[in-house]
Amino acid sequence: MKQNYTQYCHKRIFVFILVLMMSGILIQDTDSVDSTNFKKCSQSSFCQRQRSYKPETSPYAANFDSLRTPKEGQVSIDILNTKNNQPFVLDFYALEDGMFNVKINEANPLHPRYIVPDTILDVNSQKFVVSTDSAKRIVNLQLAENPNIKITLTCSPLRLDVFDDDEPVFSLNSRHLLNIEHLRQKPVQKPKEPDSPPPPPEENEEGKSPENEESEEQADAQEEVVEEPVVEEKAEEEKEDEDDIDGMWEETFKTHQDNKPRGPESIGLDTSFINFAHVYGVPEHADHLSLRSTVGSEPYRLYNLDVFEYELDSTAALYGSIPFMIGHNGKRTVGMLWLNSAETWVDVDSSEDNKGVLGTVFGYFAGQETVPEVNVHWISESGIIDVYFTMGPTPADVMRQYTKLTGTSYFPPMWASAYHQCRWNYKDEDDVRTVDQGFDEHDIPYDCLWLDIEHTDGKRYFTWDSHKFPNPVEMQNALAARGRKMVTIIDPHIKVDSNYHIYSDAQAKDFFVKDRNGAEFKGWCWSGDSSYLDFTKPEVREWWASRFSPEIYKGSTPNLFTWNDMNEPSVFNGPEMTMHKDCKHAGGWEHRHVHNLYGRYQVVATVDGQLARSDHKERTFVLTRAFFAGSQRYGAIWTGDNAAEWGHIEFSVPMILTVGLCGIAHAGADVGGFFKNVDGELITRWYQAGAYQPFFRAHGHIDTTRREPWLFEEKYRDAMRSAVRARYELLPYWYTLFYQSHTTGEPPMRPLWYEFPKDRSLFAHDKSYMVGRALLVQPVVAAGVTYSSVYLPGNSGWYDTTTYQSYPSPNTVSVSTPLTNIAVFQRGGTIVPRKLRVRRCSSLMTHDPYTLHVALDHQGRAEGELFMDDGHTYEYKNGKYNYKKLVFENKVLSSRSLNSTALWETNSWLERVVIMGISKPSSVQLETEGRLTTLGFTFDPNKRLLTIRKPAVKMQKDWTITLS
Ligand code: GLC
Repeated sequence: MKQNYTQYCHKRIFVFILVLMMSGILIQDTDSVDSTNFKKCSQSSFCQRQRSYKPETSPYAANFDSLRTPKEGQVSIDILNTKNNQPFVLDFYALEDGMFNVKINEANPLHPRYIVPDTILDVNSQKFVVSTDSAKRIVNLQLAENPNIKITLTCSPLRLDVFDDDEPVFSLNSRHLLNIEHLRQKPVQKPKEPDSPPPPPEENEEGKSPENEESEEQADAQEEVVEEPVVEEKAEEEKEDEDDIDGMWEETFKTHQDNKPRGPESIGLDTSFINFAHVYGVPEHADHLSLRSTVGSEPYRLYNLDVFEYELDSTAALYGSIPFMIGHNGKRTVGMLWLNSAETWVDVDSSEDNKGVLGTVFGYFAGQETVPEVNVHWISESGIIDVYFTMGPTPADVMRQYTKLTGTSYFPPMWASAYHQCRWNYKDEDDVRTVDQGFDEHDIPYDCLWLDIEHTDGKRYFTWDSHKFPNPVEMQNALAARGRKMVTIIDPHIKVDSNYHIYSDAQAKDFFVKDRNGAEFKGWCWSGDSSYLDFTKPEVREWWASRFSPEIYKGSTPNLFTWNDMNEPSVFNGPEMTMHKDCKHAGGWEHRHVHNLYGRYQVVATVDGQLARSDHKERTFVLTRAFFAGSQRYGAIWTGDNAAEWGHIEFSVPMILTVGLCGIAHAGADVGGFFKNVDGELITRWYQAGAYQPFFRAHGHIDTTRREPWLFEEKYRDAMRSAVRARYELLPYWYTLFYQSHTTGEPPMRPLWYEFPKDRSLFAHDKSYMVGRALLVQPVVAAGVTYSSVYLPGNSGWYDTTTYQSYPSPNTVSVSTPLTNIAVFQRGGTIVPRKLRVRRCSSLMTHDPYTLHVALDHQGRAEGELFMDDGHTYEYKNGKYNYKKLVFENKVLSSRSLNSTALWETNSWLERVVIMGISKPSSVQLETEGRLTTLGFTFDPNKRLLTIRKPAVKMQKDWTITLS
């Protein structure tokens, strides 16, 4: 283990040991933090119980006669666990755009079970067409507006099959893994003597003993279930055993005891993706794009955790969790959201010997020798079964559907889509000034300078260290005068200090999370002894938002934005470095129920604070480390504490692609690698990769040597400068992609299969990727590389963006990638807007002229879009923007407004048009508002490259350029 990592770990371990010593607990194993500090499935009792649950047949059966339609778009049916006689209700909801939701909850839970709030948006419902087959006891549901989508419910054993165009797509509980641990009374300890009489049963609130209650329910249920499997005689006996399994009422990991006042409440369900060989999603893991088979190894774990220098190629949990999985085959793309915010494990079985089992049973794939399928086992510690299906059938359809459910991305301000400079830490105001000037001196643009935890007064967030940062307002104003912004870090742990206004105010208002005994929970984090705000409470969020007003956040200006870190939440002395699961939140919920939501709630409150500060005029920017489904609505994420190693550049690609497929558009990795010192070659390659990833920020650990680009040898510095400038040239394209993401849900950075969905060779490919539909990027992820072998898919040809050299496709080509560049290709058939006059930051480029790069396909066609607005307000919502459709066909390039009237005034004009793959015209004419102008041009016959000079037409106008 390298020095910096060790130092970092030692710091945290030091704190950890200190706490343990103080509390009288000393552990032996403190040499280094390693993966044994995080649970395996077998160390999590519910995961182990669910994973070893393998009944021959499912005990769950639906009561055919209980089928009902409580309201339009909802169909319900009663379910019985015939083994222990527990009743459940299954609800189907038909949703717009071919989506539907399946919920299974206990019919009469002892207490309510947790249902994830604030995540699913208001989506329209639609009707089900219901038909039944009483002989077979089958219920058929069809979406009225999407009649190709059908669901078949087989009553006994319970099973759901989902069809699209009569082909099976999903099957639920066909592997009999549906298993809902019902809430129960804690069993009274069994007597030791086998023949001593049993203790009297405990009475619940209604004065019924659970046994009586059960037998009444049992009787009711029995009455209802006609011809369903008979409840096994030994049910009661087995139920008692069920109640007694280790870990159900408490469990210990390392030195941490987890008390479970509600007892077991875990859920499990199998879902098969039929005729799919590849599934994707369920971030966050440092893993490849196509999910691996977890048979015989660890399932994918979703539990937001602060993991030191995480291992690559792993299914271990990281900082964020999105329980959304996508299946893609050559024919269709589908998705399912397992809506659950508790600790979740996902087993994926795509092993060869699965192939064909379900498909063959169905007999739907006649003529197909093998029908692959991916069998997924979802396991969560608590909650209800709550699954949303997005039926595609294209990748873009799935993204639209998923983001209808959970929201599209926020629309980052222009500056946030540019380059950010961060380090732990820029020491003081002088340092900030010097770094800021350094960028100008070396002609490297940047938009935002970041301050990490050391800028505060003793890690008290919303404060400044008055020695190092005596004039924060002047400092921010100086940056703002040069067009730049600043970000400060604000974590959710609040230093326990009655003289610190955030702490004392929150404490007086009773805003902190409680421990299991109801006292204020205290844990260790950067601030030392800290309390944690209960962001699940709306009034806490409201109060937190109001902390961002300049009167309260002294020294802040409108140019100051926010970084929410450590919000898994990170608790250095907590189990697995996070909060105890038996801590208590609003509404009596335990931390175990809300864990994966915690970080998102902090960001929601921070965004509200920024909005209030500008009276909802200015767009917000918040970076968060923890995230959940829906986090895309609020800000950007990054992949946490990576390391200066080649492998981390490589894995940044699948990690960002995966969150993108789960709705998070604005994502990136620490450029340069957080831990460890970085050498010139590695950091150069990282800048080149980062320049083509959505969130582009350099960051490094406090113990690493300084790494601003100009501190490296000239050849590296120059290459880093070129990489950053390449980003700035492409800002119009990135910005348009962010706007599209905000309106359609499509991720700016996409897997190749997303754009070439039929090319099977791409289904597991994550070496290269697409930026939008036009650019293919393949970062260099190894030392000493001078050539890259790049696969160019599709059949519309590609153009090297460095040389304009054209390549036919599909094709694997070898291109020169010396230190100065990586492989970036423009797809034939696309138009990419650029701004070639790169300045020191993006705000200075707002009204600069545009250059269009038109790459023709074999039919001599190309198209693209361009979005323009002021770059930082919500005025686009009032129509103040220009959205242009750019099309080249029949030798005519046209720009037409997609919004009815172009309402945002800009002086930007068209400076140049570069057309690739064309023959020489004899003349070129511009037409706008009825006026014709003849334009000058140059032509390179070898490259078939036409450069049209100075059309000089205003970009907001409609115009055409005709070649003849
Ligand atoms: C965490 C963050 C890292 C930050 C550090 C200090 O490790 O992931 O980015 O620099 O805390 O705040």
